[in-house]
Amino acid sequence: MTDRLRKVRRIYDHDPDAYHRAMSSRFTEWMLGGRRRKVGETVRGLVLDVGFGTGLSVPYYPADVHVVGIDVSSKMLEVGRRFARSSGRNADVLVMDAEHLALPDHVFDSVAFNLCLCTIPNPEAAIREGVRVAKPGAPMVFLEHVRSHLLPVALLEEAVNPAMVALQADHMNRRTADFVRRSGVEVLSIDRWFAGMFNLIVGRAQSG
Ligand SMILES: C[S@@+](CC[C@H](N)C(=O)[O-])C[C@H]1O[C@@H](n2cnc3c(N)ncnc32)[C@H](O)[C@@H]1O
Repeated sequence: MTDRLRKVRRIYDHDPDAYHRAMSSRFTEWMLGGRRRKVGETVRGLVLDVGFGTGLSVPYYPADVHVVGIDVSSKMLEVGRRFARSSGRNADVLVMDAEHLALPDHVFDSVAFNLCLCTIPNPEAAIREGVRVAKPGAPMVFLEHVRSHLLPVALLEEAVNPAMVALQADHMNRRTADFVRRSGVEVLSIDRWFAGMFNLIVGRAQSG
């Protein structure tokens, strides 16, 4: 494991309950709830949820999907496993590095990345791995905070980025849609909100 990934794991292992509480607040529901619902409308069948965390997207998934959640933080996954069960959803959780998935090729009916490509050290490697394990043509969905397409907002994000990376391993300036396109996903739509700081990218895995 690289030093960068060890740091991510340390940060998320620290207090997963606090993360879960903060991200379940009315404000985050207002900011993200509608898009988490759209993620739920996109996934089907056997779903790989990359950077599963405490499973906050699980209640938005249809009841008939089966979720495999992977994360580098076992502490986040412990909370996530309990939360999925209390939400009445099936979820198998596995400690794994998104950049090196110990999973076979072409098995998932859909793949979701929720708020994780900002912390994964090499996001393009993780997206390529998601494409590898997806069935060709499978829906791929990305709910992420990104570098805004609006220059003044992007400059503000660039200004706070060094502190956020140092403290939280959280990159504010990632050009996620470009990474997604370069990594074997055919992009079908991009929904931008909150001054372009968030994107919901829907696409499908390209074959081969
Ligand atoms: C901001 S949390 C998002 C959690 C959840 N998906 C959500 O929507 O709230 C980011 C998660 O990505 C995980 N993560 C970061 N880098 C990873 C990697 N290389 N492999 C697996 N998980 C990773 C972190 O441990 C953390 O749980």
